Amino acid sequence: MSGNEIISFLGRDWTELQRVIREALSSDIDLLQKVNDKLYSRAGKQLRPMVSLLMARACSADGCANSDSCHYAAAAELLHNATLLHDDVADSGTIRRGMPTLSAEMGETAAVLVGDFWLSKAVHTVLAASAEKNVIQLFARTLSDLAKGEMLQLQNAATGKTSEEDYFNVIYCKTASLFETAAVAGAVSVNASEQKVEAARKYASCLGTAFQIRDDILDYEGGERLGKPMGVDLAEQKITLPLLGAMYNAPSEEKAIRCKVSQIHNHPEYIGEITRFVLENRGVEYAAEKLDEYVDKAASALEIFDDSAQKDYLVQIVRYNSYRKI
Ligand code: IPE
Ligand code: IPE
Ligand code: MG
Ligand code: MG
Repeated sequence: MSGNEIISFLGRDWTELQRVIREALSSDIDLLQKVNDKLYSRAGKQLRPMVSLLMARACSADGCANSDSCHYAAAAELLHNATLLHDDVADSGTIRRGMPTLSAEMGETAAVLVGDFWLSKAVHTVLAASAEKNVIQLFARTLSDLAKGEMLQLQNAATGKTSEEDYFNVIYCKTASLFETAAVAGAVSVNASEQKVEAARKYASCLGTAFQIRDDILDYEGGERLGKPMGVDLAEQKITLPLLGAMYNAPSEEKAIRCKVSQIHNHPEYIGEITRFVLENRGVEYAAEKLDEYVDKAASALEIFDDSAQKDYLVQIVRYNSYRKI
């Protein structure tokens, strides 16, 4: 998948999306403007707005997105960045996109406040479109899913009992929900039929799930290009799919491993030991198999759409999760 190719395919819609984001981020407070400019210049992969705009084009009768589509796509990216600012405080993250995080550079208070600003701008951007009530509800639901997902993750880390079902609940809330809202809002922006809205929802919820599984695999075996540290999940006592898979493959060791995970704060040396356990017991392969199931489900959800370049790019975006390194 080439992000640049998709951006040039999206052409004027992409230019408009960037204009909407920049406008949302303007502030009369010099420090806030400076920080916003810096964060804006360090954009990530911008997958959520790509999905949102491609889905709008795939769902519309004439293959075109519109101004509402650009606003919803911009809101999804603003909200995503707000969650990253908050997540780096929650996870004590020091590096993001290959650069020091805002919390590392300016402290946690600034990171929380700037995250709040971006979050509120996401809401303003939704409201600046003709925003039907159901789109506002979608974004509101995702906002609460994000908070619920992080709290559920904290609760699971504290009990040490995370099951596969718990894991999938967390990743739906913290990641798939926003992909879903981005895609469904794109579909709604062009008055898609109910059948197409449902296909958009299915595609994006499976894409978001696959995306987070890949992120959790990369936390075990990512390389230099990742742009953020590895091993962070275990350090936070997060039991993710590669570890669940390794315990499934080596059930006699599950009890001892769970016990070690719960003692990681006092025994950081366990991180290396548990990582080896995951790699030796094919935990990554277990997670990769499940990931591929979600990739296939997402691709099949697109079958109802006529063949088009936008549909091909949506397939490429989801397939990219089977191998992405960043
Ligand atoms: C990182 O998302 C957080 C997760 C949901 C795993 P991305 O990998 O999309 O982050 P950027 O925006 O490209 O940096
Ligand atoms: C995604 O989970 C969190 C958000 C939805 C912001 P992670 O905590 O794994 O994301 P990274 O690895 O820090 O990007
Ligand atoms: Mg994190
Ligand atoms: Mg991660």
